[in-house]
Amino acid sequence: MGEQKSGMHRKLTRYGDEEFSLYLRKAFIKAMGYSDDALSRPVVGITNTFSAYNACHANVPDIIDAVKRGVMLAGGLPMDFPTISLHESFAFPTSMYLRNLMAMDTEEMMRALPMDACVLIGGCDKTVPAQLMAAASANTPAIMVVTGPMLSGSHRGERVCACTDCRRFWARYRSGQIDGEEIEEVTNHLVSSVGTCGVMGTASTMACMTEALGMMLPGGATIPAVHADRLRHAEKAGARAMALARENCTPSRVMTPRALENALRVLLAVGGSTNGIVHLAAIAGRLGVQVDMDAFDAMGRETPVLIDLEPTGRYYMDDLHEAGGMAAVLRELKPLLNLDCLTVSGRTLGEEIDALPAPFEQDVVRPLSNPIHSGGGIVFLKGNLAGNGAVIKQSTCSEALLVHSGRAVVFDSLEDLARRIDDPDLDVVEGDVLVLRNAGPKGAPGMPEAGYIPIPKKLARQGVKDMVRISDCRMSGTAFGTIVLHASPEAAIGGPLALVENGDTIHLDVPARRLTLAVTDEALERRRAAWTPADEGEALRGYHKLFLDHVTQAGEGCDFDYLTKRPYVARTP
Ligand code: FES
Repeated sequence: MGEQKSGMHRKLTRYGDEEFSLYLRKAFIKAMGYSDDALSRPVVGITNTFSAYNACHANVPDIIDAVKRGVMLAGGLPMDFPTISLHESFAFPTSMYLRNLMAMDTEEMMRALPMDACVLIGGCDKTVPAQLMAAASANTPAIMVVTGPMLSGSHRGERVCACTDCRRFWARYRSGQIDGEEIEEVTNHLVSSVGTCGVMGTASTMACMTEALGMMLPGGATIPAVHADRLRHAEKAGARAMALARENCTPSRVMTPRALENALRVLLAVGGSTNGIVHLAAIAGRLGVQVDMDAFDAMGRETPVLIDLEPTGRYYMDDLHEAGGMAAVLRELKPLLNLDCLTVSGRTLGEEIDALPAPFEQDVVRPLSNPIHSGGGIVFLKGNLAGNGAVIKQSTCSEALLVHSGRAVVFDSLEDLARRIDDPDLDVVEGDVLVLRNAGPKGAPGMPEAGYIPIPKKLARQGVKDMVRISDCRMSGTAFGTIVLHASPEAAIGGPLALVENGDTIHLDVPARRLTLAVTDEALERRRAAWTPADEGEALRGYHKLFLDHVTQAGEGCDFDYLTKRPYVARTP
């Protein structure tokens, strides 16, 4: 049976007799027709995140076939295995609640199954961070392939794509500009192919960050889901996984602190989703690295937004791909990147940039000298209302609201928001500041993407398009507006949002990085002394209990506290 600990010889089930374990394993796997030759090869595991509920992953079976071809051409044995699949619109209460479960599922399968390397196939928002968190913890050689963005479509002559336009059309419907028939019709056109959202939302942001992080082969972030190149990229990743196994190129060699910095730099330069910072903090936590938000903010001041893509700009992911994809971005960003970082290609990021094809004329990716926005997309706010910090995506804010003072209109929960936001008697006027609390990691739970608080209908019908909105939850990367997010500590554990009262004055000053409540320290102390946490209600059990007992705040990535880096004491054959 051999002494070599690779392929099917790895991670033998413990019966107390290793030869028996291997003998039994072979007997079972041979039921599927494998030969001894096949079973003697190095094994590449492939995560199968296909789900009938997940249109963003509908092309996963084709990608798996292509990855398998690449593995076999390189002499290995590909083995796909299922893990949880998460789609944004099919996860109650929110996909973020399940991201850590997917990370645990993926990590434990990578630890439990015999594999010399793993190809991670993700795409929809939470899947890529979950898989990178898993890879960081399992530290098995791994390479990421994303499903790729959907194609853009058109509605009555207007180009549309999920999901910035989903929100634009919904705002038109709420303000009475379009009727019920048209809003139904537009659902036929917003998502015109399989694949991930075709704007710089969270999925695209994570794909671009993953390429910059070095965990994906060059060019992989932007190839549309339905292009033949997507499959050629997958085939190449399968072959490369075999090399990663040979070279023992583990994620800890690729995802170094300097590589994480590159990913943050790209997050800013692409005008990426605010979720990117939460997910990167979680991935970094798995590697024992803490993201310094002040350093991130300083990085933002010197990193302009280069991509003219929705929701910050005009174009879509298929345009970015035609404009050269991440090659065009990395070429421009070169002076700001850590070029010595190893990538899964076996070359450094600098070597990959030097090997890029010659640039050509296009107007989707701007040069450093003529950016879309001179400061980075995301800003870190401080002040007595931001607590340990809050973020705002300044590249999608209304210019007129970047410095603003207004009267607080407070919603105590998501339910309260749903009940009162469109009440004609709601005491709200243009210029007020909408506050949503108890919607954070523990409060909601799961920190849902509810930070894009709708403009109250009565104001929307008067033509109000944007208001300052503040919450302790997240916002979809596809959304836009003057929206402060991730205020932490969250209200449910007594953070500053818990102390706001209707009618208080709130000051937002984005250039000065300030978010303050015009209430004296003494008054705030009195309110704090009177505050009591909400009753958790019925007895908790299962994953819900695990989540509430262990989820961390946004700045730590909302990971579970016990999953951050520490010595792993379980079996690691
Ligand atoms: Fe899957 Fe947008 S819903 S990427």
